Amino acid sequence: MKDSTKGQASDIVALERNHVLQTYRRPEFVLVRGEGAYVYDSNGRAYIDGVAGIAVNALGHRDPQTVATIRAAAEGLIHVSNLYHTEPQVLLARALVERSFADRVFFCNSGTEAMEGALKFARKFARQDYGDDKTHIVAFTGSFHGRTLGALSITATEKYRAPFEPLVPGVRFAPFNDVSAAEEAITEEVCAVVVEPVQGESGIHPATRDFLECTRAACNRAGALLVFDEVQCGLARTGTLWAYQHYDVVPDLMTLAKPLAAGLPMGAVLMTQAVADVMVPGDHGSTFAAGPLVCQVAQVVLDRVSAPDFLAEVREKGHYLSSRLSALAEKSPLVRELRGMGLMWGMECSVESDSVFAAGSRPGILVCSAGPNVVRLLPPLTISQPEIDEMVKRLTAAFSDVEQETA
Ligand SMILES: Cc1ncc(COP(=O)(O)O)c(C=O)c1O
Repeated sequence: MKDSTKGQASDIVALERNHVLQTYRRPEFVLVRGEGAYVYDSNGRAYIDGVAGIAVNALGHRDPQTVATIRAAAEGLIHVSNLYHTEPQVLLARALVERSFADRVFFCNSGTEAMEGALKFARKFARQDYGDDKTHIVAFTGSFHGRTLGALSITATEKYRAPFEPLVPGVRFAPFNDVSAAEEAITEEVCAVVVEPVQGESGIHPATRDFLECTRAACNRAGALLVFDEVQCGLARTGTLWAYQHYDVVPDLMTLAKPLAAGLPMGAVLMTQAVADVMVPGDHGSTFAAGPLVCQVAQVVLDRVSAPDFLAEVREKGHYLSSRLSALAEKSPLVRELRGMGLMWGMECSVESDSVFAAGSRPGILVCSAGPNVVRLLPPLTISQPEIDEMVKRLTAAFSDVEQETA
């Protein structure tokens, strides 16, 4: 019989090395609890959380309403499958529809799965309306849409793709934010064009208005569906509920996940009625998706982050963070460029971002990398102004450490 081990950080790190598939590089501390914008390790050290579980913990850690909702919901029904009606699912679907461009929602369990769903719906839409040959998909350089074979096929990064080829055929990558290249790529055989309005994993690159407007127009001309991947930039991260609202460009489908259920796994595909009309019972499904517990938590998140006061605060704190980061960037010789919107920021560095990620643990800040050289900040949307000051102070200390190491 195996022991159940509750050990020191070093024991846990060793167990991870020996038993978990080694697909992640993790620092050598073990996180045990969180409170607001802070997480704590097994030695009681506090870290200000500039990652928020990669844009997941929008309401911070141990949010009282989230905790109470999970407790109460667990006393009722956790899961029954999608073979039966449950009320929280339909209330959440109605709320998502009322607060977006969409008419219908398909629920799933992650961002990757939402992308898979969007691609399948677009394929079926094209087949039904245009015949069997309209199967191509346009994606863009710098894109990240997930790791399963379909989502990976529209993810541009070569090192993620190469070991697993052949992927789904018929995908073309056009240069991001290049209007004429997008117009050229969106031809009659294209069924779907997939865009992150603000690219996340490749280093926080906002789309230009011109690019999204022209891509929308090209989709209309070619009869292709426009899919916005708002898995990372959606749900208030950029200061509006949906990133597309900054551009006044409306998609046919939109994918969501990350913050939707406060850290419980949940994804969603939002779509117009025209797209929904092609799908029939049995065409797609998921065992776990949109159970009563996860939907009640998502309802809390959606209600909180879509409140006008909450969104105004995100915008205000976003401006404040941007000014503090600009001051840091001006002083630090390592920072080449600052990009972002709302509470989604990337600092392009002259050194590997992993060195700042590692240095951050000394002053006690969590940051993450986006691409090889970009330090990414995605704090909880509930972070306060003094906590932003503290986060930037600790980030400045991490940058100074790296400066000394590289001098
Ligand atoms: C824009 C975007 N799309 C899709 C995904 C995949 O989401 P998940 O990791 O939940 O499968 C991610 C994850 O980082 C993402 O940032």
